[in-house]
Order: sequence, then C-alpha cells, then structure tokens
Amino acid sequence: MKTIQGYDYGKVATSPVSLQELDLLKKTVLFTAEDEKYLRLAGEVLQDQTSQVLDLWYGFVGNNEHLLYYFSKDGQPNQKYLAAVRERFEQWILDLCNRPYDQEWLNYQHEIALRHHSTKKNQTDHVDAAPIIHYRYIVAFIYPITATIKSFLANKGHDAETVDKMYHAWFKAVTLTAILWTYPYVHKGEF
Ligand code: HEM
Repeated sequence: MKTIQGYDYGKVATSPVSLQELDLLKKTVLFTAEDEKYLRLAGEVLQDQTSQVLDLWYGFVGNNEHLLYYFSKDGQPNQKYLAAVRERFEQWILDLCNRPYDQEWLNYQHEIALRHHSTKKNQTDHVDAAPIIHYRYIVAFIYPITATIKSFLANKGHDAETVDKMYHAWFKAVTLTAILWTYPYVHKGEF
C-alpha cells in the first residue's frame, strides 16, 4: 500500500467508546452481518472509483463557501491541505467497506473525530485553517455522502436489488461513523 501522509491507522490512542457500546450502536442502526457482506462488495465496486467519488465530493465542498471555509484561512482555500485530506478521504472509503470494525477501527474513528474537532484539527497537515468543523455539518454530511454514492455502486453491472443492499449497508456505516465522530462535541457522560 502506498504511504498516505498523516494516515495513522493502527497507530493512534484508544477510543473512549467501547466495543460493547459500538455493538449496541450497530444494533440501533440495524447493522448486521449481511451489511458487512454487502459493504465488502461495495469495497470491490468502489476500489477503482475513489478518485471520481472524491471529484464529486470536493466539487460539492468547493461550490459551497460555507464548507470550503473549513479548508481555508482568511477566505483563501489551502490547496495543499485539500490535497492531503483528499488522499486520506479516498482511503477512508475503502476502510469503511473493507476493514473489520474492531478495536483498531474504533480507535481510528476517534482519531478522525478529534481531527474534525478543535482538539486536533489542522495538526496532522500543519496548517492554519478554520479551527473546528462545526458539529451540525458532521451530521448534515451523512446525506450527501450517502446519496451521491449510489450511482458509483451501480457502475459495475450489479442488479438493482444488490445495488440497493450495498447502498443501505453504506448508509448505515456512514451513520455509525458520523456518530462516533461527534464524541468530542458532546458533554462528558452525555454521548
Ligand atoms: C478530514 C470524512 C464531515 C472537512 C476528513 C477525513 C475523512 C473525512 C475520511 C480524513 C481522516 C484522516 O485524517 O484520516 C468525512 C465524512 C464526514 C465529514 C465522512 C461526514 C459524514 C466533514 C465536514 C467538513 C469536513 C462537514 C466541512 C467541510 C474536513 C477537513 C478535514 C477532514 C477540513 C481535515 C481535518 C484535519 O485537519 O485533520 N474527513 N468528513 N468534513 N474533513 Fe471531513
């Protein structure tokens, strides 16, 4: 695997969320072994399309000043920052589909949470952009990140039912992840 700047999977601190809590969250979003199976399939389907997916997502961010703001300082987008995050974002697509949701995965979700939050934002890429991604947008992103994936899932000739199963597995996985990323924004004991 090529080296991705700042991609620290397996090298980060332990998540404050336990595997048992993750298990109950999975149950709550109706995430089952079948979803795991369809996520693996989605991983195969998306493997060679991650760059096109990111073109679309970055187009969305780039066309919305209030979102581009988070990659910017004094109204100037930091292109190096955008490019560095993009590589990790592409890897995240494959991780979401292919990695087992074990302790290591849980730990990295917490690391990504901290990187969106003021605790660690900007540190990985040594930049001086907006200091925090506001909580409301983390939740709001669940919809565009989900809705836009469907056409990519349909690109490899699977029947409509299979595409739908991959799509729902993806939706649940993104929801689960976004929940874990809100941890630092919530008062202690209230997550
Ligand atoms: C970082 C995905 C919400 C802006 C990242 C990374 C991923 C990601 C995978 C890189 C993680 C790593 O370092 O390995 C997502 C997903 C979201 C979400 C799936 C919601 C469901 C947002 C929103 C914004 C945003 C709403 C605002 C435009 C950023 C920025 C970074 C980042 C600026 C770099 C943070 C840093 O300084 O380390 N995101 N993100 N993200 N994301 Fe998000």
